[in-house]
Amino acid sequence: MEEKYDHSTPKFGSQQMRDTFRLSDAYVMLNHGSYGFPPQPVLNKRNQLLEEQESHPFTWFRTNLMDYYMESVKIAANLINGDVEDTFILSNVTEGTNCILKSVMLKERENGEILMNTHSYEAVQNMLSEMETTYGTKTRCVEIRFPISDEQDVVDLYARQLDLYPNIKIAVIDHITSPTALKLPVEKIVEVCRERNVLTLIDGAHAPGQLDLDMKKIK
Ligand SMILES: Cc1ncc(COP(=O)(O)O)c(C=O)c1O
Repeated sequence: MEEKYDHSTPKFGSQQMRDTFRLSDAYVMLNHGSYGFPPQPVLNKRNQLLEEQESHPFTWFRTNLMDYYMESVKIAANLINGDVEDTFILSNVTEGTNCILKSVMLKERENGEILMNTHSYEAVQNMLSEMETTYGTKTRCVEIRFPISDEQDVVDLYARQLDLYPNIKIAVIDHITSPTALKLPVEKIVEVCRERNVLTLIDGAHAPGQLDLDMKKIK
């Protein structure tokens, strides 16, 4: 049976929020970034859909699945102020990053360079070094060192690397860096990339829910 959900913002405070999750009272969770877990209403919905899939497989795949998918895409697009036709749901960020980098670089191969930064996620760094072996691409890196006094400093560092290495085809920009929790000025970095005809891939693994996202503003 369809369960009705309360979509209002939950009350703030450790106990109220904690009660929304299944966490054991004895468990202190400090790394939601690596091993995130959904709140109870999401689990309930997931279980309900799984039940529906298992009990009516043919109807599920042939009739309902695309409608459910599109319903979710519309909600996701609205959350990030993106166009519905430009929004896709993938299993995780690693899959999305792989799809984009490998399809963009397929044609470039030996001449293609990819820009990351020193705070980029380790799995992304591993992917780039794997692509150096299998695709023959080259990885360039923006070194972001502390202390950082102004966000323009970071934008300037990107501009400097892009000017130094004109073969850079695409830049991977973390919206919030994983090891250091830096919020990068993605709008301005995208701008300096566009001015140089360089594509951008924003790794937004930690952004939805933490930042008000506006894909149309970021362009
Ligand atoms: C910046 C960043 N990118 C990518 C990922 C990988 O995300 P996923 O586990 O959804 O593939 C993470 C995971 O923590 C991350 O912090």
